[in-house]
Amino acid sequence: MEQENKKVPVHVAVIMDGNGRWAKKRGLPRLMGHRAGIEALERTLRAAAKLGVRYLSVYAFSTENWNRPKLEVAGLMELLQRFAKAKVPELKENGVRVRFCGSRKGVPEEVLRVIDWSEAETAECDRITLVVCFNYGGRQEILDAIAAARDARCEIRSEADLQRFLYVPELPDPDLLIRTSGELRLSNFWLWQSSYSEFYFTDVLWPDFGEEELKKALEAFSGRERRYGRVEQL
Ligand code: IPE
Ligand code: IPE
Ligand code: MG
Repeated sequence: MEQENKKVPVHVAVIMDGNGRWAKKRGLPRLMGHRAGIEALERTLRAAAKLGVRYLSVYAFSTENWNRPKLEVAGLMELLQRFAKAKVPELKENGVRVRFCGSRKGVPEEVLRVIDWSEAETAECDRITLVVCFNYGGRQEILDAIAAARDARCEIRSEADLQRFLYVPELPDPDLLIRTSGELRLSNFWLWQSSYSEFYFTDVLWPDFGEEELKKALEAFSGRERRYGRVEQL
């Protein structure tokens, strides 16, 4: 495995941003940017598996993205279904487990079916887990966890109590959180989980991202000292 002597993050999270600007620069419709973004995702996933990352989570559609033009939202729903149907067999062959993370509320029935099918198909895969955050919002996730705990008649008294009711409870917190396209914000991603994540920002637009860019991010990560509130180690 490459990067043998370096700390490799277990969980890499990515805010895949900049598809629209990538398309605009080329005089193309925004959806073409999203399509190119899927190719970037495939490249990044392949590289992440090769480099020893165990979980790759990607922000694909936020709870706020419903506020985009109807056509773009419909196009994104369509793209997700097409991507899953076309790629899941290949992902399965390569040991990629697919998990979706987000609220099911408001998601069209046919999209939910594809989501469930993708997860069932790849349930036994264990080389790397791709967590697709879709209709995801960090605040919504916390609210949903509180509601789910209440329905189960569980009182939340500790972090572990809440963790049990998150969308993907067994997912370790992201070690490294990457955002592309030069924006320096979280946009409601992994609010609970990112409390001690290392952040890496790049101006590269998501459709231009791939193995080389991921390596740069992992390189930066390997030089970080994570202190968790403790005193610096000499
Ligand atoms: C990120 O790219 C993809 C989604 C939000 C689905 P954008 O669509 O946000 O691209 P920009 O930020 O407008 O360039
Ligand atoms: C965050 O990007 C959501 C995804 C990448 C899916 P946005 O482009 O929606 O975020 P803002 O609006 O720039 O904060
Ligand atoms: Mg954006």
